[in-house]
Amino acid sequence: MNTRMRRAAVAVAATAMALSLAACGSAAESDENKDSSDSAAAEKGDAIKVGLLLPENQNARYEKFDKPLIEKKVKELTNNKGEVVYANAKQDTTLQSQQVDTMITNKVDVLIVDAVDSKAIAGSINKAKSQDIPVVAYDRLAEGPIDAYTSFDNVTVGKTQGEALLEALGDKAKDGQIVMMNGASTDPNAAQFKEGAHAVLDGKVNIGREYDTKEWKPENANSNMQAAISALGKDKIIGVYSANDGMASGVITALKRAGIADIPVTGQDAELAGVQRIIAGEQYMSVYKSYPQEATVAAEMAVALAKGESLDSIAKEKVDSATTKGIPTVLIPVVSLTKDNIKETVVKEGYYTLDEICSGNYKAACDKIGLK
Ligand code: BGC
Repeated sequence: MNTRMRRAAVAVAATAMALSLAACGSAAESDENKDSSDSAAAEKGDAIKVGLLLPENQNARYEKFDKPLIEKKVKELTNNKGEVVYANAKQDTTLQSQQVDTMITNKVDVLIVDAVDSKAIAGSINKAKSQDIPVVAYDRLAEGPIDAYTSFDNVTVGKTQGEALLEALGDKAKDGQIVMMNGASTDPNAAQFKEGAHAVLDGKVNIGREYDTKEWKPENANSNMQAAISALGKDKIIGVYSANDGMASGVITALKRAGIADIPVTGQDAELAGVQRIIAGEQYMSVYKSYPQEATVAAEMAVALAKGESLDSIAKEKVDSATTKGIPTVLIPVVSLTKDNIKETVVKEGYYTLDEICSGNYKAACDKIGLK
């Protein structure tokens, strides 16, 4: 990474940090915004029950970061009186709607939902709302009458991945074909990553094959990649756009099996295994997203909604979903993660220690790139 890019990355991280601090301050101020008409919610005080629904557990982020961070923040915002009830849908749409039903029966005060399928969840959200349970859409913009939404700037995620791939290909960008491994079509984020990537890549590279990968599964990415290699020929593929790290692992396994080495592969999520592949030179980049910031905003939104408070001091933006207009929203900026900024990002924010990253076989690779 050149100096200009590094400065830009640090600036984004600083903005993001300021944003999170601003968001932290807002909870304390929001008392003035209390809506006195909603007396049941106002009487609730801090003993709030938050229902947290996450979509899957094969990507590390959900149970390593999102869940514990949201739990911690809810405790902080409620003088330790709040409680998070958790369910993971393991990629199953029907299971997720049953989990919502259970949470409604258990009388949660508010829901934070990261939908497996953003359209299919709308019925459950309607059900919750009919019981006066407000809903925060987390990370993926669920359809139905949600009250608030927080995520990253997902079109920018796709652009960041596309730009990194172009940077890695340099003047060889048209000397062969690239393969695009997009995420699941049930996830609106996948469409945004894809849109951002196409905006950058179209016309600059030849796209030999492109897939929407069922359920974001690494094994599906692996079989799609094997099919692409058979169709295009192993000598023709010069790079792979993979929408996240989990799928990048499936892609890289297929590349290795075919004897293809040294081509750039993108990713997202800054998973430990992804960071280690970056160090080893197997994966070119990932996208670093600050889960502490996203979790903080979600917890603040949930607690404010449960208490019947306004979201004005938390959410300055508004977005529209296919079903609902003007949803109060916080979108968090992202940073391109390459071997050049591992310390300033995932290590600095405490995701992993250098010892964890550079453990075992990765020690030599860390030494080689001067990471210590
Ligand atoms: C998230 C990504 C994640 C993917 C698969 C997306 O909605 O934004 O961080 O890798 O889902 O779970």
